[in-house]
Amino acid sequence: MQEVLTAEASVDIDSDDALLHSITTEAPHEAAALFAAARKVRERHYGKDVYFRGLIEFTNYCKNDCYYCGIRRSNGKAERYRLSLKEILDCCRAGDALGYKTFVLQGGEDPWFTDKRIVELVTAVRGEFPEHAITLSIGERSRKSYEAFFHAGANRYLLRHETACEEHYAKLHPPEMSLAERKQCLYDLKEIGYQVGAGFMVGSPFQKPEHLLEDLRFLRELQPQMVGIGPFIPQKDTPFGAYPAGALNLTLRMLALVRLLLPQALIPATTALGTISPDGREQGLMAGANVVMPNLSPRETRKLYALYDNKICTGDEAAECRYCMEGRIRRFGFTPAMCRGDASGR
Ligand code: 5AD
Ligand code: FES
Repeated sequence: MQEVLTAEASVDIDSDDALLHSITTEAPHEAAALFAAARKVRERHYGKDVYFRGLIEFTNYCKNDCYYCGIRRSNGKAERYRLSLKEILDCCRAGDALGYKTFVLQGGEDPWFTDKRIVELVTAVRGEFPEHAITLSIGERSRKSYEAFFHAGANRYLLRHETACEEHYAKLHPPEMSLAERKQCLYDLKEIGYQVGAGFMVGSPFQKPEHLLEDLRFLRELQPQMVGIGPFIPQKDTPFGAYPAGALNLTLRMLALVRLLLPQALIPATTALGTISPDGREQGLMAGANVVMPNLSPRETRKLYALYDNKICTGDEAAECRYCMEGRIRRFGFTPAMCRGDASGR
């Protein structure tokens, strides 16, 4: 039995019942004990460090039609943009000047960015920044494509599985998308040698506690190096525009459970957490997160990367976010770390 103990709480992470109890409990003292346990585990592996990743949202064109997402292809109200290679490199240069050692290149599934263009982009960033970590987050592609990006110099790949339950997956996505393909992408990425990030939304429509348990089980099997967890937040021009947002405390409990299950994971305190509560990201750190991803996208395009409503930090310059986050981190007793922050031990 693998048990994670603290003075106040123990969670048997092998037991479905124990995990379901932690997922469903409303008792504040239980949540507090869970967060304390998660902090302790995180501290054992990473100390007080919080790693910075510079996020560049380089296209909001998307050929997919996920029901929850504001940049889905059917959203005719989304004003589309695509950064040029030069604009993306300028974001990297600005990020480098601010001390970032990781660039996260994120976008919708934009067919304009063919494999050839992504390879060209990664090659250019790699050429100019030989020591930096390059993370891609551009959705599902073939194994061959992933290999080409890896050989061009990409090191990490973020692809949330969104929900590990087939039935639930089918309620969040149109029929042409499948959980099996998503999972295959994640396994391919891992095999190729990427540090891989999976993850899911908390409180998405039709989600049940059992689905969250499946998410934990899937993560345990996949053993990703990174896990992105954030609350679902409605975007008014999507089919889910009228559904309520995911709850803060449940999101934090899921984050803490992932920390207990995957002690060495790199877990961001997400922008979505900061959007549902003014100190959501700080609370995320207090529940076991150890990464932040401030935005390096040009200010003019930020508000257009609107996956959900009321997204924070859309009016700020890269430098403002960099220093704002540093202050927030220090106030909670953590240490901003600008190093690459690779996954340790794996
Ligand atoms: N609310 C919260 N998160 C969302 N994402 C997409 N749409 C929403 C939304 N409405 C998340 C998905 C995706 C990541 C880039 O953003 O989990 O993988
Ligand atoms: Fe963007 Fe605080 S992190 S303004």
